[in-house]
Amino acid sequence: MLHVIILAAGEGKRMRSAQPKVLQPVGGRAMLAHLLETVSGLKPDQVHIVIGQGAEMVQASLPDFTGRFAHQTERLGTGHATLQAMDEIPAGARVLVLPGDMPLVRVQTLQALLDERAPLSLLSFMANDPTGYGRILRDGQDRVTQIREQADATPQEAMVKEVNSGVLVGESAALKAWLEQLVPRNAQGEYYLTDVVGLAVGDGQHVSGVIADDANELMGANDRAQLALLEQVYQARCRRQLMADGAILEDPSTVYVKGRVQVGQDVVIGPQVTLQGDVTLGDGVVIGPGCVVSESDLAAGTEVKAHCVLEGIQTTGPCQLGPFARLRPGTELASGVKVGNFVEIKKSKLAEGAKVSHLSYIGDATLGQEVNVGAGTITCNYDGVNKHHTRIGDGAFIGSNSSLVAPVSIGERAVIGAGSVISKDAPADQLSLTRAPQRQIEGWTRPDKAKKKK
Ligand code: UD1
Ligand code: CA
Repeated sequence: MLHVIILAAGEGKRMRSAQPKVLQPVGGRAMLAHLLETVSGLKPDQVHIVIGQGAEMVQASLPDFTGRFAHQTERLGTGHATLQAMDEIPAGARVLVLPGDMPLVRVQTLQALLDERAPLSLLSFMANDPTGYGRILRDGQDRVTQIREQADATPQEAMVKEVNSGVLVGESAALKAWLEQLVPRNAQGEYYLTDVVGLAVGDGQHVSGVIADDANELMGANDRAQLALLEQVYQARCRRQLMADGAILEDPSTVYVKGRVQVGQDVVIGPQVTLQGDVTLGDGVVIGPGCVVSESDLAAGTEVKAHCVLEGIQTTGPCQLGPFARLRPGTELASGVKVGNFVEIKKSKLAEGAKVSHLSYIGDATLGQEVNVGAGTITCNYDGVNKHHTRIGDGAFIGSNSSLVAPVSIGERAVIGAGSVISKDAPADQLSLTRAPQRQIEGWTRPDKAKKKK
């Protein structure tokens, strides 16, 4: 039986944030959320999250969590925090303890530690800069004897590069007994989880120390600078995955992933692109430089030119978007749609072959097949209180600089004269226009610079 305890009660003072540390984001998601996803891969019987500082915020961030929360009412240290979860764990269970601020650990690494069958096993790594981590002390036979926190280390101990990841595994009854023996006799006056190592060794138990190959995945984040390091590692991982899945990243180090991205084959992602939330890019999709694509699903063959911002949109066939288009939630574009520069579209459906090529706002609208919307066309969808719908039938042609005052319906194949303000339905197959007649002003002369009085 496997029980997992995640320590998430700390405030994270060093972050200087109104949010508890475990909610700080890596790749746009809370550190704790990453860890929970990884832990689920171990198929544990129960997950316990120890909460305290900002407990409500932590709970609120995990609406789908099916494990249990244990409360640590005072911040007395990691050992004390672990103990708060132990009452609900039966004797004989294996207990895996994880700090809540190490989001990058991979399931294989945790599994390798679980495969160790020692009474107590811990995961360590070699740090170039061990600052802030507990140092692993070993005896002449290379056996782990103790973990020394930085604050308590002698200068010589502080030079040790093998550091504690904070992850350990033990049998519940033994672990609980050691936790109950902890004393806060150290520089920080805390009950250190790490002291169970010395206690186990004192009981004549073997403590196995597994040194992970990849130090990067075990880094913790106590402050913003460390959080930025984790972000780098995470981004590198995401980029490698995108490339492994078949995408070309023209300048990998400038592509940012803040969510879950699925790519088909031969997707091309230009420089300085950010992908957020759930994003799906079908085969051959091209995302030009400088685009931000969030919560969107782009069908195979869709081309997004430079500097577009897409949020909550869907293309159901190959489309051409941008450059400089802003497409907002609820936009659905069928095959062959073209959206050009400086066009904003919100909550609208464009059928096959519809074109909005320049400088338009289309909101709360339905555009039929092969509709052509001229430059500068605006759907006036908002009366200050309510949003209204605009419907444009198949094959209609909207002349440039028209205002379509919703609710309004434009018939199939209708033509709207340029510059019109259309506030009544326009019938199919006819030209509708509202336009003051052009006139000439007799005797008007142009102001002349040369004649201007000083
Ligand atoms: C801890 C380890 C250190 C290890 C490092 C790895 C101890 C004493 N030290 O140090 O050996 O190298 O992690 O990153 O364990 N927490 C609580 N309640 C508390 C205190 C902390 O729930 O009273 C939680 C925090 O929210 C955090 C985790 O425990 O998620 C670790 O605490 P943190 O303060 O980050 O420990 P470190 O100083 O990094
Ligand atoms: Ca930490």
